[in-house]
Amino acid sequence: MIEEIRETRKKIEELLTKIDSLEKLENFRLEYLVKKGKIQKFFDELKNVPANLKPVVGKELNELRKLAENFFNDKHAIFKSQSKTEKYLDLTLSGRISWKGSFHPVMKNIDEFVEIFKTMGFSVAESVDIEDEFHNFDALNFPKDHPARDMQDTFFISNDRNDLLLRTHTSPVQIRVMKSQKPPIRTIMPGRVYRNEAISARSLAEFHQIEGLYIDKNVSFAELKATMISFAKRMYGENSKFRFRPSFFPFTEPSAEVDMSCYLCGGKGCRVCKYTGWLEIAGCGMVHPNVLKAGGIDPEEFTGYAFGFGIERVTMLTTGIDDIRLLYDNDIRVLNQF
Ligand code: DAH
Repeated sequence: MIEEIRETRKKIEELLTKIDSLEKLENFRLEYLVKKGKIQKFFDELKNVPANLKPVVGKELNELRKLAENFFNDKHAIFKSQSKTEKYLDLTLSGRISWKGSFHPVMKNIDEFVEIFKTMGFSVAESVDIEDEFHNFDALNFPKDHPARDMQDTFFISNDRNDLLLRTHTSPVQIRVMKSQKPPIRTIMPGRVYRNEAISARSLAEFHQIEGLYIDKNVSFAELKATMISFAKRMYGENSKFRFRPSFFPFTEPSAEVDMSCYLCGGKGCRVCKYTGWLEIAGCGMVHPNVLKAGGIDPEEFTGYAFGFGIERVTMLTTGIDDIRLLYDNDIRVLNQF
């Protein structure tokens, strides 16, 4: 009998590598491990073994049972967990592509502005979004009763209206730069600005501007024009045309608005330029003497120019998006295109 036990053991050891499915494992169980199985049969026959051999045969038989049971339990656990994953695993499915982040078109535009102005010798300054009325209005020569100071246009933070507000433009950064630097000053100031406006296809309550400031001795309007045009040609192409329209801002004198020939129709007139052939891209002018004084600079000794671009407007022009809200809806189908 001991020979048979050893043979069975050998067989089971061979089966170790051959059993590769739950079905075959079940057959194995039925053959060896059930009450009417081969191993139990050996136990039944143990009574016929001579007494002196019983301990040896019994020991080998117990070992055989242990081996078969362990073998069954291990394989069973493996097959069970495999069948669970197989249920959810479809190897024919195409792989999932993980989305890579990219720069928002508005941020890209700001970077392009900054890069071009840097090559023209401008440094970059940033400032706070929560301003006081002095920097946002007073120092920029806004009269006390200017309509822009109204609650309707400005988000005031405190109720008494006399103190903190969300800056309505980046021009207050001019004052902070003047106070912290000595001329010659040549700086651009990108940033977020806020206005209490109804949100529509053409306006948002929160958007971006880039401010520029150049202060030195004998700075002229001709230099302002040359700087604006050479910047804009690099940004929008050599063939774009520009015009300066007289305008008014409290903080510049004289003031102008800069128009660019429509990028879409080249000046012939279309829907984008409202059939005028021109698109407004910036406000600019010579820094008002009162503003220089508020910044601690002597207007008798220094002159300067300033300009301000609305970035979302420009982004709309360069992307062809005709509803400004699309820029901030976070719709991946829109943003993916840029
Ligand atoms: N701050 C103006 C605005 O928000 C834009 C502007 C116009 C800035 C003329 C300037 C400037 O620096 O000279 O509409």
